[in-house]
Amino acid sequence: MNNDNAYVALVTGCTGGLGTAICKKLYNDGYKVVGNYLTASKGKTWKGQMEEENYEIPIYQADVTDFGAVGKMVERIEKEVGGIDILVNNAAITKDGQFRKMTYERWDMVLQTNLYSVFNCTRHLINQMIERQYGRIINISSVNAQRGQFGQANYAAAKAGMHGFAKTLAVEVASKGITVNTISPGYIATDMVLAIAEDVRRKIIESIPVGRLGGTEEIAYLVSFLASEQASFITGANYAINGGQHMF
Ligand code: CAA
Repeated sequence: MNNDNAYVALVTGCTGGLGTAICKKLYNDGYKVVGNYLTASKGKTWKGQMEEENYEIPIYQADVTDFGAVGKMVERIEKEVGGIDILVNNAAITKDGQFRKMTYERWDMVLQTNLYSVFNCTRHLINQMIERQYGRIINISSVNAQRGQFGQANYAAAKAGMHGFAKTLAVEVASKGITVNTISPGYIATDMVLAIAEDVRRKIIESIPVGRLGGTEEIAYLVSFLASEQASFITGANYAINGGQHMF
């Protein structure tokens, strides 16, 4: 596929389950997709897999918790690929455990990776988007930011913060052709969810009315919709996509 004249989309945390599905969907939509990754070995394996499947997706290493490193990554992408029109803030980790036992380190790591990363990436891109009068910023949050979840005080705080951020930035840049939205997936078949102990996971699946985990491609489909030019009247929105597990 020749994606030479397309908008440029940056997906953070591209090597994960959701990141991979989002990259592939946006590529298939015709965007020039660029992936961000953290771990060298994972990046190399992922790039090889993508090439085998004929996805030409350049990848850039940067720790999204490091403001300076993200700035350098953005500069390189702008020089080598082009100005970034679509940002998908997808990189995230879990460090689950009851709050009464949570260490400062486990709180901080999750806040840094899941929320500070949103500042770090968006801040380095926003003024260029304003100059071009076009942009799509899509935050991948969670059902567990919309309700409480035992063991996820750090994760829920960070993921809920993403949408507070989205609503304010959406207001600030609405007149500049830029939309800022949040997607709140429920439990999706990714390594993150498969890492939950099997008995706990079984109970969680029982609580999902649709009766199964979501597919990564189902989230990617919603990202693709929000990334499109046609979605220009949708901003500051938070889309639940959770198989009916949480309705409000
Ligand atoms: N509600 C109430 N009590 C619960 C509970 C729940 N959901 N889950 C466990 N407990 C209780 C147990 O019954 C037990 O009680 P007792 O001490 O009285 O026997 C106690 O909590 C367990 O104590 P532990 O010391 O084992 O708990 P812990 O601090 O190690 O935490 C846990 C356990 C790791 C949080 C485990 O319950 C768990 O994995 N829960 C699932 C968390 C989850 O859903 N994570 C989502 C990951 S995927 C993701 O984040 C993607 C997304 O966006 C959806």
